[in-house]
Amino acid sequence: MQLFIDTAETDLIRELAETGLVDGVTTNPSLIAKSGRPMTEVIAEICDLVEGPVSAEVAAVEAAAMIAEGEKLAKISPNVAVKVPLTFEGLKATTALAQQGIMVNVTLCFTPTQALLAAKAGAAFISPFIGRLDDAGEDGMELIREIRAVYDNYEFDTDILAASIRNTRHVSDSAIAGADAATIPPAVFRELVKHPLTDRGLDQFLSDWAKTGQSIL
Ligand code: E4P
Repeated sequence: MQLFIDTAETDLIRELAETGLVDGVTTNPSLIAKSGRPMTEVIAEICDLVEGPVSAEVAAVEAAAMIAEGEKLAKISPNVAVKVPLTFEGLKATTALAQQGIMVNVTLCFTPTQALLAAKAGAAFISPFIGRLDDAGEDGMELIREIRAVYDNYEFDTDILAASIRNTRHVSDSAIAGADAATIPPAVFRELVKHPLTDRGLDQFLSDWAKTGQSIL
């Protein structure tokens, strides 16, 4: 499964990219607003930090304007994936941008039928929002399982990008459910490596090793 970072904070992306484990980045208008920086500057900087897809979201609501914005964003770098919302206008824009060979990430997906439409429109990624469904008292992970079944039934090659991740369990459950990728907030990404028994085990090994008085180098 590919691991993306869900942030527009370039310092955090730089730090996490050093692990060699970051396959891409997603942003959205809220994350760009939080960064307090011009969008095109931020996206260009992120594209220099990671080789994989970097999602940059349109702000227009009509297809023609979304297409124009998408074309402009795609010119920033070949690894830009233009993000469009899951509306009929967004799907029209998806078809047009995909026909130009531009990667499109269709966002704000909450049902399998929405995901079906995005795949038919030629989306490179579909972003089901797990956490927001859980927040609303529904089962976000069930949506991942349903989309996986739909895409496998018809051999769609749109990648399922689990989004709105709140915790490490969301990441492991997405992997088990067959998501192709997950976009993860930096704080949750850092948690992925942690377990108290790992820390305790390492402390014990280091303490026992010190008693031997040996050195490997
Ligand atoms: C996905 O691409 C979105 O940027 C993001 O995952 C939304 O997450 P949120 O529900 O925590 O805002």
